[in-house]
Amino acid sequence: MSEVRPPLEDPRLDYPATQRNREAILAVLREVLPAQGTVLELASGSGQHVAFFASALPQLRWQPSDHDPSVFASIAAWTADLDNVAAPLQIDATSPTWPLGPDLACDAVICANMIHISPWAACLGLLDGVSGCLREAGPLCLYGPFMRGGVHTAPSNEAFDHSLRSRDPSWGVRDLDVVEQAAAQRGLVLDRVFEMPANNLTVVLRRTKR
Ligand SMILES: C[S@@+](CC[C@H](N)C(=O)[O-])C[C@H]1O[C@@H](n2cnc3c(N)ncnc32)[C@H](O)[C@@H]1O
Repeated sequence: MSEVRPPLEDPRLDYPATQRNREAILAVLREVLPAQGTVLELASGSGQHVAFFASALPQLRWQPSDHDPSVFASIAAWTADLDNVAAPLQIDATSPTWPLGPDLACDAVICANMIHISPWAACLGLLDGVSGCLREAGPLCLYGPFMRGGVHTAPSNEAFDHSLRSRDPSWGVRDLDVVEQAAAQRGLVLDRVFEMPANNLTVVLRRTKR
């Protein structure tokens, strides 16, 4: 008698926004990432971004991560066919030490949609950690909504900011000037700002000489 197996549950999470913004982010990454090396992704979430970027840029090695291990099965499933993507690491941006080991100096770091959906300490922790692991001149790419000069750039971002703060008062859309200042204090200087669809930005900072 043939065996009847129950259908296996698909572990892949689907974040619709990620599918909408991935082409625009990839266009920026093509401009700013180095030709070769290791790209660390912080706050990988579902893993859809790293799967898409690693497939489009196969000459780079990709290291996904998140502070929440419950998303690791999704990241692993989305990237299962890609031999240039490592298994996800548990990295909490607020942790003073990141489990990268001495061998994993990064040539670039990317982080989408995290610094406004977490306390300000996560942004500062991210900048601290990146300043320690990013090679000189390497880019840190931050994607998401930002205020500029203390002002929202669109009513939709202002409404989003209110909804974030009502969910958790420590969350909220960050001001690019404040992020830039905190980054500069950690040896990361603002290089370029890309206007993105839906009133988002991709902000590129670069590691200065230590
Ligand atoms: C809105 S999701 C974005 C996921 C993905 N980057 C994207 O754009 O589709 C925010 C992610 O940030 C992660 N996150 C929140 N706080 C974090 C922290 N302190 N360190 C690392 N990741 C964090 C969450 O677990 C979640 O996966």
